[in-house]
Formats: sequence, structure tokens, C-alpha cells
Amino acid sequence: MQAKQRVLTGITTSGTPHLGNYLGALKPAVAASQKVDTDSFYFLADYHALIKCQDPQTVHRSGREIAAIWLALGLDTDKATFYRQSDIPEIPQLAWFLTCMTAKGMMNRSHAYKASVDENQRQSNTDLDQGISMGLYSYPILMAADILMFNAHKIPVGKDQIQHIEMCRDIAMRFNHTYGEHFVLPEAMVEEGDSKVLSGLDGRKMSKSYGNIIPLFAPADELRKLIFQITTNSLQPGEVKDPDTCTLFEIYSAFASPEETLEIRKAYANGIAWGDMKGQLFEYLNDYLSPARKRYDQIIIDPGYIESELQKGAAKARAQSEPFMQRLRTAVGIMSLVGDVGAKSAATNKVKKELTQQEQAKVDAGKAKAMAIAKQRAEEEAQQVALWVDDLISNIQATNNPKVAGEEALVDLKTQIDGAKKKAKKTLQQTLELLEQRLTS
Ligand code: TRP
Repeated sequence: MQAKQRVLTGITTSGTPHLGNYLGALKPAVAASQKVDTDSFYFLADYHALIKCQDPQTVHRSGREIAAIWLALGLDTDKATFYRQSDIPEIPQLAWFLTCMTAKGMMNRSHAYKASVDENQRQSNTDLDQGISMGLYSYPILMAADILMFNAHKIPVGKDQIQHIEMCRDIAMRFNHTYGEHFVLPEAMVEEGDSKVLSGLDGRKMSKSYGNIIPLFAPADELRKLIFQITTNSLQPGEVKDPDTCTLFEIYSAFASPEETLEIRKAYANGIAWGDMKGQLFEYLNDYLSPARKRYDQIIIDPGYIESELQKGAAKARAQSEPFMQRLRTAVGIMSLVGDVGAKSAATNKVKKELTQQEQAKVDAGKAKAMAIAKQRAEEEAQQVALWVDDLISNIQATNNPKVAGEEALVDLKTQIDGAKKKAKKTLQQTLELLEQRLTS
């Protein structure tokens, strides 16, 4: 559809992004937005936040923090379209259209929903749906609306989200099948490095739900404190240590160059003390993160700036979502009673007001040309049809029984019409009408 690859992803605003989120999602997304052949759409998924988090302050604060993080990491908001989901009213509207195209059985198989059911089972709850909202149940549909609203091709996500992209494709296919080709079928883009998720303070996967995270822009003293909490073993200074089972080494190497990593690997072989290693990791991360953290600290105290960036993004996004939603509304049959004629002329009037006389003359000339071309095409087609009918008639007349042959030709045409595609169907229909006329006259 578009020449550029459209990449789209969202971050749910229900928590504070950590080092794992940075490596797995934010860093590659900012890098991708700089490529000339990609058109990036990045957004704050604040409607999604309401599914997990009913604390208004947390939802609000997290939105501000995550927006500030994107900006501090250097996202170019002139290139990328950076917006807040809730600023695009067409998204929940589309979510409803998609809800009506989604098989309930498919939703029953959603991992996120099934995990909650399993948890109820484990706790021997008699009601297996206990604590499960319709928001959680149908959250893949809202996600599909995020993606399809902008007809994105590639969706960078973690492995846990692949199923949602597959559901999105399924829903899009059903919509396209029912109402015509409106949606591109998106593909999940899973980062290579993502197969190895970053470990947290306790050695388990870094995740908010385990409470073992290192926030991306933790102030230096907090960063230091957290790094010194990372679990190690009881090996003494001077004893050889295994870097490949060590969280400190894992985090270090995720940020450092191969050369720097090799140096540290040697230090493990030489029995570096845990305290020294923790100190080195802190110094390295602190240096790495501090330029962006400085920008973050300036941005986070300037909500006016953050909001203006989001509004700029919303305007860019809505320039697409508004007309696209209008098209989708018409496709499903929801439109003004005076038909889309009313909608169209309102839209045209608006455009007209903004055009100079000269521009208007150009528009009119363009329209006239288009109409002339269409007229010429129609005439050529009619001529073709007439020639074909001439042929048919002479063949029919050459048979022993022209009456029967004529009837057979009509039946034959009708079956062809039934099986034909739109354009061919029209031509065949015209042929049939003309042949009928000529055979009866
Ligand atoms: N569900 C995603 C997550 O929890 C966030 C998200 C919402 C998203 N809408 C999206 C991701 C659309 C990609 C595309 O991580």
C-alpha cells in the first residue's frame, strides 16, 4: 500500500520502564525510526493501562514518564509519529467494529486470559473467571485496532505478544473478507536479542511483576544501591568466577562493546571480587545512561513541552485516522441518511474554502480531464462489447438452428457472469443485455 515500511508499537503506561525494556524495545525502536525507509508510529497505550492498573495517579504519572523517556532517548518526532492512544478517538471506534468481527472462541484461547483462568484454577476458585474483566478478555482486539488503524506492516514486540499479532491478522482478514480490502496484514517483528531476556536483581527475568527491576533512569545513588543488591554467590576475591551464569556480567555485556566484555571476562578468570565488579558495572551503566538521564530530568519537569509533542503527534496521526475511519464507517454501512453524498460535499466545501482561484481552476481542470478519460474508456468498452455481440450473432446465424443457438449463447453468458470478477462481470453483463436486445429485435 505504502512504499515505506510502516513500523508501529506501543508501551502500556502502567509502570516505569526498566533496563530490559530499554534493550528489548526502546533502543531498537529509536534506531528504527531513523531509517529512511521506515515510517514509525510509536504511542503510549494508556487505554491498555486501565486493564492492569486502576490507580489514576499511576496511569497519569506513567504516561508522563514514558513520554519523557522516548523524548530523552532522542526520538525524532518530526520523522516518527509519536502520540497517545487516548488522543485518537477513532481507535476505540475501530475496536468496536473489530469486536464484531472477532470470534469469541479465538478470544477464549488468548494466553493473557488463559493465564488468569489457570491462576483461578490453581487457587481452586469455583468461579474460573473471577477477577477477569472484559478489558483483559478483549484486550487483543484493542491492540488490533491500534495496529490496523494505521495499517502498519511490522510490529516490534516481545515474544509474549506474538499471539496477539496473529489474532490481529485473523480479525483483519475477516473484516477484509466481509467488507472489502481495507487492512494490511501485519507481521510481528521479534528482536533477535529478545530471545535472551535480561535478568533482574534476583537473577529471574527482569520484570515489574517480580519486583526485581532497575528503572532505566534511576538517579545515580539509587542505581548504585540497586546494582549492589544484585544476587551473586559466595565465592571469595581471588577465586575464579563463571561470567556466563552471572547477572552482573550479563547486564554489563548487554551494554558494553565486545572488547570491553572480553576484558571483564578476563577479570572473572582472575577472580575479581564481587564488590569490585558491582562497582565497575555501576560506573559503566552510569556513564552510559547519564547523558540521556540528564535530558530526561529536564524533560520530566516540563509537562507543557511533553504535552505539545504529544499534541503534534496526535494531529499527524489523526490526519490519517479520521479519513480512514470515515471510509471504514461507510464500508460497514454507518453514514448519514443523505448518503455519503452529504459527507463528501461537506468535505469538498471545506477544501474549496482554502483554495485560491488558481488552485481551484487546476482542481476543476483535473476533474474534467478525469471525467473525459472515464467517458472515453466507457465508449471504448461499449464498442468492444458491440463488436463481440456482432461476432456472436454471426456465429449464431451460421448454425442450423439459430433460435436454439441464441438461447444457448444467453445461458452460457449468464453462467460466465455468475463466476466472473467485478470488472469482467460488468462487461459480460453489458454483452448479455445487448445480445438479448438484438436477438429479440
Ligand atoms: N500489549 C502491548 C504490551 O503490553 C502494548 C501494546 C498495545 C501494543 N497496543 C499495541 C504493542 C500495539 C504493539 C502494537 O506490551
